[in-house]
This record gives sequence, C-alpha cells and structure tokens, in this order.
Amino acid sequence: MKIFPAFASILLACIITFSIASAQSNNFKSDRHRPQYHFSPNEHWMNDPNGMVYYNGTYHLFFQHYPEKTIWGPMHWGHATSRDLVNWTQQPIALFPDSLGWIFSGSAVIDYKNTSGFGKDNKPAMVAIFTHHNDSLEKLGGNNHQYQSLAYSNDEGKTWTKYEGNPVLKNPGIQDFRDPKVFWYEKGNKWIMTLATKDRITFYSSPDLKTWEKESDVGAGFGGHGGVWECPDLIEMKYGVTSKWVLLVSINPGGPNGGSVTQYFVGDFDGKNFTPDDTLTRWMDYGPDNYAGVTWSNTGSRKILIGWMSNWLYANKVPTERWRSAMTIPRQLSLERVNGKPALTQRPVGELAKLERKRSSLTAFTVNRKFDLPSSIKKGLNKIVINTDNSKSFSFVLSNTREQKVIVGYDKAKDEFYIDRTFSGPRGFSDEFFSRAVAPRLAKTRMMTMTLFTDQASVELFADDGSTVMTAVYFPDEVFKNITLEGDGLKVRGLTVVEY
Ligand code: FRU
Repeated sequence: MKIFPAFASILLACIITFSIASAQSNNFKSDRHRPQYHFSPNEHWMNDPNGMVYYNGTYHLFFQHYPEKTIWGPMHWGHATSRDLVNWTQQPIALFPDSLGWIFSGSAVIDYKNTSGFGKDNKPAMVAIFTHHNDSLEKLGGNNHQYQSLAYSNDEGKTWTKYEGNPVLKNPGIQDFRDPKVFWYEKGNKWIMTLATKDRITFYSSPDLKTWEKESDVGAGFGGHGGVWECPDLIEMKYGVTSKWVLLVSINPGGPNGGSVTQYFVGDFDGKNFTPDDTLTRWMDYGPDNYAGVTWSNTGSRKILIGWMSNWLYANKVPTERWRSAMTIPRQLSLERVNGKPALTQRPVGELAKLERKRSSLTAFTVNRKFDLPSSIKKGLNKIVINTDNSKSFSFVLSNTREQKVIVGYDKAKDEFYIDRTFSGPRGFSDEFFSRAVAPRLAKTRMMTMTLFTDQASVELFADDGSTVMTAVYFPDEVFKNITLEGDGLKVRGLTVVEY
C-alpha cells in the first residue's frame, strides 16, 4: 500500500501516541472526524494559531491549547513543527500558565539584531510575545487582567524561558487587551506591536521588545463591530509595482454568517499610524470556520496564513471525543485588483501538491441534472477544480450512504456562492451549526473557477483565484465519499479531481 506523506506522519504520530497510551481505543485513521491533512492536536482542546514563525527551514505553529480537556480552559501554548507546511509533528507544550496568568494568543519573532539581549552564542533568540490572562484578577472584576509578556528560546523553540521582567506592557484599564502580533519595522528601526484593544487596534513600538510605547489606535468608528476585536495582524504586501499594508482583525461575534469571522482593511502604515484607504467592511473568509488567522513571521514577502477552523458559536460542543478543532490549510495571501479595488486573495500553498496520489481531468462537457465524479474518490480527501462560465447555477453535493450531505455551490440569480450543511449529520450538539452560509461573488468576470479542498470533516472553497473564500467543518456519521456535480445545461470547460 502506498501511504502519502501527511498520512504516513499522522499514522506515525498515532503509533507513537498509542505505544504510550495503548488504552485508547480510537486512532486517527478510524476517527471519521479526524482531518487527514489538516493539523489537529493529538488530544484535547485547541483554538487560535499562535507564534507562527519560520526559522532554519522549519515552520513553527504554536496554538492555544488546554491539555487536560476537550473544552476551553487554562490556556497553554501547544507546539507543532513542519518543514513543508503539509506534514506536522506535534512537539511538547511550549508555554505553561504561571503566576501571572494563562497564556493567551500572541506571536513570535527571530530577534536577529539581538535587540532584547536574549540571544546566546551569537545565535538570535526566538522570542514569543503573548498575553498573560489573569483569571483571578478577572474574577475580582476590574479591567486589568490582561497584559503582554515575553518568553524566549535559544534552541529553536524546544525550551522556553519566561522573561523575569514580565509583563512588558501593563494594562491601562482596557478589558480586552490582547493578542500581540509583533514585526520588525525596518524603516523605523523598531519593533511594532499590533494589539487588539476592545473595539480597535492599538499600535505600540519598541527598540528592544521589553519597553513599549503607544503610537496610535485605529478602527473605533468603522469596520465590523458586532463583537470584540481580536487577533490582529499588520502586513506589508506587494500591490502591483508598489506596496500596501493590510490589517487583519478577527471579531467575535459579528460574522456575516454568524459568530466568529476575520475582517481586513487595506491602507498605509508609516510606523506610527495605519490609514485605511476606505472604511468598508471586508470579510477575509465568508465561511463559518476560519477564525483568528494570522501570518507566519520571517517568511519575507511570502505571506502565509493559517486559521483556526472553528467558530466560538459551537467550538466547545462539536462532536469529537479525544480532540477538538483543526487548523485550515495554509494559504498564501496576495493583494490583487478585484473588481477595480485592492482585495486580499488566498490560495492554498503550493506545497499541498505533495499530497497528490491520483488525478483525473475532463474537458468540455455538459451536465444535465447530475454528474458523478470519478469512482476513484473513495476517501473523501480531494481537491476539485471546476472551470465554467457564470451563466448557470451549479453545485457539488458531498454525501454518504446515510443521506447526510453538504452542498457547495454557485447561485446564479443571487451571484453568490454557498455552503449548505443543514443536513450534514446528527443534530443536537448545537442549534446554530446546521445552516447555509453565503458569500457574494466578488470577481465579476464571465469565466469562473471554483476549487474545493475536502478532508474527512471540512471543505474549503477558493473561488476565482481565491477572491471569494469559504471554509466550513461538518461531522457526518460516515465520511462523504460520493461527490456529484449538479446543474442544468451546465457547460463545464474543465473539471479536475485530485485524490489525496
Ligand atoms: C480568540 C481568543 C483570543 C484569546 C484566545 C484565548 O479566539 O479569544 O482573543 O487570546 O482566544 O484562548
């Protein structure tokens, strides 16, 4: 049997896990909800991606983790590493709660200039900048229970030391004061921290990561405000021959399809102020399950984002037993002109091509009613690409033998895409989960492309070169192994089905 790499490593992880905990009856392969090529923790709770940094050929992915239960609780930073963004190996927990509090979301940088003095033996330190959340202070009331702290590693993320001067940024009396994302701002020769501060984003600067000064804040009067602002990221992106700055902000609740969502603003940043080009609200991903996504640091002009593939509406209740939540596939971000305006586009990273086992392509055919995708699709792990024009509605129906299904489609009359998981599996764990999410088609071109990535319990839709994106999870009793394309006189230019 040929085992593809991601699967092999998952299998290996299982073997390792089960040689230690052989009493467990489940394993990755037989767990029908366990993603086979998305990162999920071996066990217990996970939420936001944290501290993502690329160093010496390794992508580090830290994550919000509660290693005792499958529900949210005292937060730690879990850790996973990958050399190719596809095969992940879970590492020992990186950061544990301490007397200052639980370890909430944050970022990591490589301090090449040793501004912090944490470097050792001429090697730069990996420095994590995170929020300490003090549960006891929170219970006492008041607004000072979140503040920013540092930890550093001199062995590429294996072991960590908390800075004795923590916290490095005290709370000025703002209830939601968290999720620092830090980058080196070369022009100003200083670090910039982008911090979520309740209903806005505040920028701080520092020469050494240890002392921070407020520069400005932005966002109080515009953008989505259906919920608190969280997990920001400020990135400089190439735009044609110039560059622009993109500010990502997650909000919860307030999403266009309910619950958690990530919005973004396009503008300029001068080291002090972020000035948005306009005050429109733009959603990065219209699906219900892509939250708290930020980009890897230290990847140069290549901007790669990964998000938490869940939603606070039901994250604690989804029907998985040993573990909870997965990450999205990593996506490469670009800033491109879409329908006359700069827009963030997302494309799955090219590294995913490694997973490919089999490919079938069809060209120029018409679908009248129903077309069954090749019978080789028997695992439910696929990439499907369709090229057609925008003159007809059509949909992909993913289903199993229990009459459970998820429909991903394009509605011509409304010019929108949708993911309908109303009948995706047993109900009961959440009232809000079983719904139909919609997204406007942002590109207005006549020809359209839709690319789907299906795993055992998720689908990610990238339409029109990643200008409209939707991500959704589901929990059927049996993996969706049947996929049909439905349409009425739908002229398909090309259909490619890749089996992972
Ligand atoms: C976002 C978030 C962050 C916070 C973390 C706590 O999902 O609420 O704002 O740091 O999760 O786990």
